[in-house]
Amino acid sequence: MQVVKTIAEIRKLRHRLSDPVGLVPTMGYLHQGHLALVKIARAENPTVVVSIFVNPTQFGPNEDLRTYPRDLNRDLKLLQGEKADIIFVPSDEEMYPPGFSSWVDMEKVTRCLEGASRPGHFRGVATICTKLFNIVQPTRAYFGQKDAQQAVVIKRMVADLNMMVEIVVVPTVRESDGLALSSRNIYLNSEERQAATVLFKALTLAKQLWQEGEKDADKIRQAMTSLIQKEPLAQIDYVSVADATTLEELNVIDQPALASLAVRIGKTRLIDNVVLEKDAPFGCSIAGEVFRKLHPES
Ligand code: PAJ
Repeated sequence: MQVVKTIAEIRKLRHRLSDPVGLVPTMGYLHQGHLALVKIARAENPTVVVSIFVNPTQFGPNEDLRTYPRDLNRDLKLLQGEKADIIFVPSDEEMYPPGFSSWVDMEKVTRCLEGASRPGHFRGVATICTKLFNIVQPTRAYFGQKDAQQAVVIKRMVADLNMMVEIVVVPTVRESDGLALSSRNIYLNSEERQAATVLFKALTLAKQLWQEGEKDADKIRQAMTSLIQKEPLAQIDYVSVADATTLEELNVIDQPALASLAVRIGKTRLIDNVVLEKDAPFGCSIAGEVFRKLHPES
């Protein structure tokens, strides 16, 4: 495993890497959710590149950029365990040198949900992912279903701008009680951690109602909302049932839909989602399970 800090170094070694190359973009402080992406990339590509970069441009002025958890040594050990080949760890100056002034600014899919609550967030995400794709020139790039809108945005961007990369979306890795793994879960105290299970409960209810034949999106939104409102520590940011590709809110669920939510538990803002489509995975409790689901023969 090789740790690379500069774009020049990546450029120099890129032609020696065996194709296809799988890229896993991350902001570090890795958990089993991130590692599921690495495992799948490892199984599908002779070369696996993981980037670790806490991208400042995707954080709003009142967000947790300064306190975002970091532990590079631990991350490198975990990635060594997953047999990643190249770890790209650029500095802020390397990615955003003085005079930087080009942005990937998208319409529609970036404006709703997370984009409405976090203005400018997806401009930062789309810009850094474009830069990473241009620097690493991966065959495939791996994203988690946990950040469903991010995956939709990146797929849209790759299609719109004719980028030569295949986007692979990996099911959400969950704790045994359903809480989606997230770097931000460490902010929760034990009472909040317990309350945080309300997100998964609301999504499970949405999925169950839909499976029972409920097609009225508003009924599902209302059922999720009233379940969450029963949890005193939870404060809803949004509850959505939208088209899975355009992210436009639905009245009637007659196409693949995304039920998603953002909820504050104390000071911590958590997001999660489930796809309302036949055979869509709801996520898995451990990374190994994700791996076997995608590669049942192994
Ligand atoms: P980060 O939050 O570090 O997440 C990196 C990748 O891990 C994302 O694709 C995310 O969806 C995935 N991931 C996180 N938790 C997961 C879980 N429980 N199950 C499955 N996948 C999970 O997302 C970002 O970083 C950044 O926005 C980035 C794409 C790196 C651009 O800066």
